[in-house]
Amino acid sequence: MYGSPVHVACIMDGNGRWAKQRGLPRTAGHTAGEENLAAVVRSAVRLGIDHLTVFGFSTENWVRPRQEVRHILGLHKKLFGRVAELNELNVRVRWIGRPFDDPAARTPRYVQRAIAKAIRDTEANTGMTLTVAFDYGSRTEIAHAAETLRRAGRDITVEAIDSALYEPDLPSVDVLVRTSGETRVSNFLLWQAHGAAISFASAAWPDYSADDLRAAVDLALTSRDQHR
Ligand code: IPE
Ligand code: IPE
Ligand code: MG
Repeated sequence: MYGSPVHVACIMDGNGRWAKQRGLPRTAGHTAGEENLAAVVRSAVRLGIDHLTVFGFSTENWVRPRQEVRHILGLHKKLFGRVAELNELNVRVRWIGRPFDDPAARTPRYVQRAIAKAIRDTEANTGMTLTVAFDYGSRTEIAHAAETLRRAGRDITVEAIDSALYEPDLPSVDVLVRTSGETRVSNFLLWQAHGAAISFASAAWPDYSADDLRAAVDLALTSRDQHR
């Protein structure tokens, strides 16, 4: 729609602070965040975005209180269960994260099953690709790619690493969004986001709006034009 595919990647941050401001438990912030993700997906489809990749849970997030982790796991089951809605939007779901057979992987079986089912049940869709990063860490991903190549006796070149990432078809990121006024890079798509524009939004993730998303896309397009 924009001449070449647009890839927006979001670090969905600030759920806890959103809840705290309202005197609610952190879990309520995560629930609101999951609901807003569903709304952002609809906005992204309307805006003609080709790839939306979101950071749902990091390899570092497992140290959070057990009850919070359990709540976030349940929300991912719910998210990957939104198949009817995604099919209606012609959205294809993908997942990136530590492979389930990796000894360090922590994703429980019931979430693995929800992920596998969502991927299977939406794979024929031809519109936007929604990639959810769960049990994901970018440095672990790059190390995994290098290790895969080493074991195969391959040279470690940029192209080879590209081909050994969790989702080799994922294009480079055009704009990296981080919400909740946090102006730091995260352990998210470090390899794929080379040259990306960065859009820092003051809204906490549950309040991230269609207008915020449009501003991020505009930023990506102007930065792209300036670099032609
Ligand atoms: C992002 O919100 C969601 C996850 C990391 C799972 P946070 O839970 O990090 O919210 P803050 O940063 O504490 O406000
Ligand atoms: C980034 O948020 C991870 C996700 C959005 C899943 P965090 O709140 O975990 O990140 P840091 O630790 O503050 O960078
Ligand atoms: Mg945070």
